[in-house]
Formats: sequence, structure tokens, C-alpha cells
Amino acid sequence: MAKYENPVDFYRQHIAERLAPLVDKKESEIYPVLSWTTTLDKGDLILPAAALRIKGKKPQEIADDVASKFPTDDQTLVTIQAQGAFLAFFFKPQSLISRVVPLILQQKEAYGPNPTLGLKDPKDESKGSKKVIVEFSSPNIAKEFHQGHLRSTIIGGFLSKLYAQTGWEVIRMNYLGDWGKQYGLLANGFRKFGSDEQLEKDSIQHLFQVYVQISKIQKEQNEPIDALKKEITEKRKTGQDVSELEAKLAPLVDASEDEAARKYFKSMEDNDPDAIALWTKFRDLSISKYKKTYQRLNIAFDVFSGESQVGKEMMEKVLTDLKKQGIAEVDQGATLIDFSKHGAKKLNKAIIIRRDGTPLYLTRDLAAILERHEKYGFDKMIYVIADQQNEHVAQLFKTTEISGHKDVASKCEHISFGMVKGMSTRKGTVKFLDDVIADVRVKMWDVMKSNEKKYEQLENPEAIADVLAISSIMVQDLKGKVRNGYDFNIDQMTAFEGDTGPYLQYAHARLCSIERKAGVDLSTLSSADWSKLSESHAVNLVRALAQWPDVVTNTVKTQEPATVLTYLFKMAHALSSSYDQLQVVGSEPELQKARLALYEAARQVLWNGMTLLGLSPVERM
Ligand code: ARG
Repeated sequence: MAKYENPVDFYRQHIAERLAPLVDKKESEIYPVLSWTTTLDKGDLILPAAALRIKGKKPQEIADDVASKFPTDDQTLVTIQAQGAFLAFFFKPQSLISRVVPLILQQKEAYGPNPTLGLKDPKDESKGSKKVIVEFSSPNIAKEFHQGHLRSTIIGGFLSKLYAQTGWEVIRMNYLGDWGKQYGLLANGFRKFGSDEQLEKDSIQHLFQVYVQISKIQKEQNEPIDALKKEITEKRKTGQDVSELEAKLAPLVDASEDEAARKYFKSMEDNDPDAIALWTKFRDLSISKYKKTYQRLNIAFDVFSGESQVGKEMMEKVLTDLKKQGIAEVDQGATLIDFSKHGAKKLNKAIIIRRDGTPLYLTRDLAAILERHEKYGFDKMIYVIADQQNEHVAQLFKTTEISGHKDVASKCEHISFGMVKGMSTRKGTVKFLDDVIADVRVKMWDVMKSNEKKYEQLENPEAIADVLAISSIMVQDLKGKVRNGYDFNIDQMTAFEGDTGPYLQYAHARLCSIERKAGVDLSTLSSADWSKLSESHAVNLVRALAQWPDVVTNTVKTQEPATVLTYLFKMAHALSSSYDQLQVVGSEPELQKARLALYEAARQVLWNGMTLLGLSPVERM
């Protein structure tokens, strides 16, 4: 593991050493209250004077007093300013540059994330890492891959990377919707309308088509059945004879797809080899197709779990426990939990066993959480699920907590995200991830072609359009707060102006192009003469680059991808205003070398941030 180095920590230490004797505090008390600033004009580090807790003086007086006493000799690497009730520290440019730029050139991809955060003992690597399960994406086989799955995939992919880079052992888990009566319906539908050839070609698309066809029949059949059932119930209430109606109902039910699906699913539950074999084939083919799509987003799952994988024994154990503890109760033949009786009225009631004896989505989750804890012994588990399921997840955590597994519940966290509105494809409302990407790519390609000269230089414009399309979708998804929804807007996300994926990609590609044109061996850049970098643009760029490790650490706290993106956009803006001021071509060789070193450091940080988000930085576009 490359040794973690955060240049700002170095300055924190430096300032703490000088400040401590002035205010009669320990260095360790000052270090943590030195925080970063949102804009560089406020300084590189800031300290609210009130945090020094000096009695009998107003914060402003403390700030003035400390600022006047702070050492100003040549050895001091910062300048201090009293700004109202705050102390602002500015890193002296030359020492900052000669510290930060070579550090980045040397650390490369390792610059930024603190790989000790996920260690069991941050001081002793040999004790190993903490383990986190990130459960995300989790689509339903044979159903559409909808906006909720898209966001879960993108956000979950990002969180897994963040944890992995900060020293955690990460298990990426996909909990497929792959069990239930609808898979009986699908199997029967496949016998009627399915084709093995089509299934091999595009399992996801084909199964979906079959499912749509058979569901339509099921729905049509259910209409008269439901009407009869309703009539029977009504008549029973008033004590009328219903035998004639029942005689009419029975053959309809018997012949229905719904009943056939129920029977088929029962045979799956009973482990009928043929039924299981067909279902396994559907599942396996769908997974291999999903994997290819995930790969385009730089995501690989460690485990394809799913509702089908939840053990019967654990489900039975959970049920027995819940009943024994009086948490679950039988009500009109069904088993349910009434949360108002457990101090959580807001969570309403949840059925866990239907009247016909079958378990539900929640029941499987209740068993799965305990199974995973047994199997993996996780220190943390994150569920990345849309806010439409807030109640479900809260019921899951609450039940786990009150049924004797408080320790498990306390390790679990729900990352709940808002809706994407208006995600559709040209073909209609069916939304498979590949279709969505294909649509955005068409638009991206048009945008690229509008710059003919550049477009002609591309060796493989199709592949680049693909990467840019994916970047567009991902950045649009990641740039707001996770809990807020957004509108899926293809024109906006593919634009080169504004805070978009293509904008970041362009920033990266432009740096690559500057390096190519200079034709200098990048490995020689560390020996540059740093005193050549004196312009304010160069200094401010380095100040921004110095912040990156702090930004990553802060992201671990916020768990918000926007923390990274806000930083990257700011950095990219600073870069684009630098090019005219800090030209490489035409400058004298030493200056050229120093500027190239600066650009290479910036490119590295941009690359590190983009890949942390799951993007694939391009070198040309
Ligand atoms: N398959 C579910 C759906 O599409 C999402 C699963 C979320 N994870 C869970 N443990 N419940 O709605």
C-alpha cells in the first residue's frame, strides 16, 4: 500500500505546532478544528476563534491577538489573517507547489483516498480491513430495468469504489428479484411464446416480451374471475346462496394462467427439477446479459444473490422467533406485524405470511439480513434502494432491531434516493439500460459530429460516443444530492457546456492533448524548477489540487457523490481559465517543463476523481 499522504495534514500539523504555545493549548486540540474552506479567497485553512475556547475574550479579539503574535519568520510556511471571528491561513505558494506537485506525480492513482480509514486498526494494517456489503442495482428478472435500478446501480457503484479505495473490504451484492408467482407465469408464457434461439440472443429482452404477452392474457382472464369473486363476497354478506356462482367460477379459475402460474411456482418451491432447471436457465442467461451492461459502467458484482437464494430454514426461524416474541400475530389467517404495538406507528402494518401460507418480499429480506450477517460477518451493510421503498426498509430494520438483533440492525444503513423523472426511450416506455444508453449515444454522436475537424481525427468515434454517453448519464445522476430526484434530460446531460459528463471528459482529454503535443517524457517532470510556477493561476490550481485528499475524506462522511463532483467542476473551471495564462507550446524549456508537471498533476487528480465516480476518462474526443 502506498503510504497515505495528505499535504493539508502537513500544514495542519505545522500550524498546530506554532499556534499551540500562543493560546496555551495542546497541538492535538488545534489540529481537528482547522477546517477547509469552500472558496480559496477565504484561505486554505480556517479556524473559528471560538473553537479555541479562551475565556473572557470575544472571538474577534482572540483572532486579532493570535494573528498579531503568529510567527512570521522564513521557516513559517503559512501566512495568517484575522477575518472577523476567524483565523485564515494561506499556504505560502512556493513551498506548497514544491510539496504538492511532486507528491501527486509520485503517488499517481493513490493520491487522495486515505486507505487506513477502513482498517480495523488504522495503525496496524496486519489486523485487516472492516467489511462492508453494498447491496445495489437489484433488478427484477423479466421486468423492466427502471429508473430506480439505474440510480441504484450508479450510486451503489460509486459507494463501493469509495469504500474500496479507503481501505474497506467491499462485497458488491446484487439482490435480484428472481422469485415469486410471476416466475411461474413467465415459465408458462415461455412454453407458449418463447424461443430458445431468441433467449440465447437477448435473454432480458426476450423474457420481457414473453412476460408482457402472458401478463396480458392473465389480466384479461382475471377480469371476469375477479368480478365473480366480488359478487360471491357481496352475496355471502347478505346470506344468499352462492353455489351457482361458485360452480361458474371454478372452471374459470382452473383454466386460468394465474392458477397455472401459482401451480408452477408451487412446483418451484417444491424443488421440481424441470421447473428449477428452466428457471435456472432464465436466471443464468439474464445474469450474463446484465454483467455485460454493468461492465460498460465499470461495475462488477461479487455476488449475484436474489430473493430465490434466501434459505427456507432461516425464513422459518425468523417466523417462529417473531411469533414467539409476540412481534408477529395471526390476523384473519395471515401473519402480520402491527408496528403501532412496537412504538413505530408510522410504519403501519406489514403482512409477512399471506393467508395462503406464502412468504412475501419483506419476509425474504428479514431472513436475508440475518443470513448475510452469519455468512459474511459484515461490519456495515448498505442498501441502495429508491425512496419509494423507505417504509419497507424501515420495517426491515425495525423488525430486525426489536427481535433480538439490534447489533445487526445497527450496522445497516439505507441510502435512499429520489426519483428520475421522464426516463424513456425512442422505442417507447420500455426501459432497459442498454436502450437508454443507446439513445443517449445517438444524441452524443450528433453533438460530436458538430465539430467536424475534431471528429475526423478520432480513430474510433463510436467507442468514444459510447463512453461519453455513459459519462453523461452518470454525471447527471451523481451531481445532485442523492435524496433529490431529477429530470432525465438528454439535451442537458450531453452538452459540453455546464456541469456535465462531457465537460469533465473534455477537461481530461484537453490535458492529454497538451501533453501529447509537448512530446515530453512525463517521467522526467518531477525534476522541474518549481520557482517557474509563480502566476496566480498556477498557484490557485495547486491550492485546489492540494485539497483533493480532504475532499475524499469528506466524501466518506457525506456519502454524497456531489462532494466529489462539485470539487471536480471547480477544478475543471480553474483549469480552463489557466490555459491562456499558462501556455506550454512556445514557452522556454524549463518553464514548459514546470507547466507540464502542473498539468499532469491536474490530469491525475481529475482522473482519480472521475474513476472514483465510475467514469472512464478518455484521452481524445
Ligand atoms: N428488486 C427490488 C425492486 O426492483 C429491489 C430490491 C432491493 N433490495 C432489497 N433488499 N429489498 O424493487
